[in-house]
Amino acid sequence: MPSSNMFIVIALDGGAAVGKSSTARGLAERFGLMHVDTGAHYRTLCYALNQAGVGPEQVGPIAKKLAELQLDTRLDGRSARVSINGIVPADAEIRSTKVNEEVSKFAALSELRDYLFEYQRGQAELAREYGYSGLIMEGRDIGSVIFPDADYRFFLHADEATCAARRAKEGQTDVTATRDEMDKSRKTAPLICPKGATQIDTASLNLNEVIEKIGNLIIADMQI
Ligand code: DC
Repeated sequence: MPSSNMFIVIALDGGAAVGKSSTARGLAERFGLMHVDTGAHYRTLCYALNQAGVGPEQVGPIAKKLAELQLDTRLDGRSARVSINGIVPADAEIRSTKVNEEVSKFAALSELRDYLFEYQRGQAELAREYGYSGLIMEGRDIGSVIFPDADYRFFLHADEATCAARRAKEGQTDVTATRDEMDKSRKTAPLICPKGATQIDTASLNLNEVIEKIGNLIIADMQI
């Protein structure tokens, strides 16, 4: 546990279904942190734009719609959820097959990424205001773009078959490999292992082992 006057930022990146969310929640619990899932931010915008009948190729209408949206944050336990015009869409809405298929197309747009940048950076301030010992933010570009100055950077990965099996176990139809390909090959803020990040292969470890491994690395660093 960080000392009372300490505030740490952990960037947790990796592809689809590598175990980021469960790991981030476990670490948030262990270290008293606020947890932010930025994948949910992209999913929420994808859902809202779909609802407005705007597709990922319609850059003009996207900009117009984004200007009408007000983002805010609501806490759900330790996890900060984004609200759009006062509403947090249900998990079933932002994790639908349609959103799984379309979210990477929206996430490739610099307009959308620029729109989210300040909001995501601002989550650290919010975590401080709420009295957390820090922030753990998960996504694809957290250690490379949003918090390149994070205290700790981790990059989770697993083989394709493991990721697909995890999604199927969750009862989701998800195109994990296709999304990863799109997320890696886009021009703006692609999915990469950030400079200086510790890589963890989660395929052969269970959730507790991943949390333990990362937690121990952080504790060991704090004691230096
Ligand atoms: O973490 P997730 O699978 O719920 O993320 C959904 C999509 O959002 C993912 O395919 C790419 C995009 N994303 C992104 O581009 N940048 C982030 N920091 C987080 C997610």
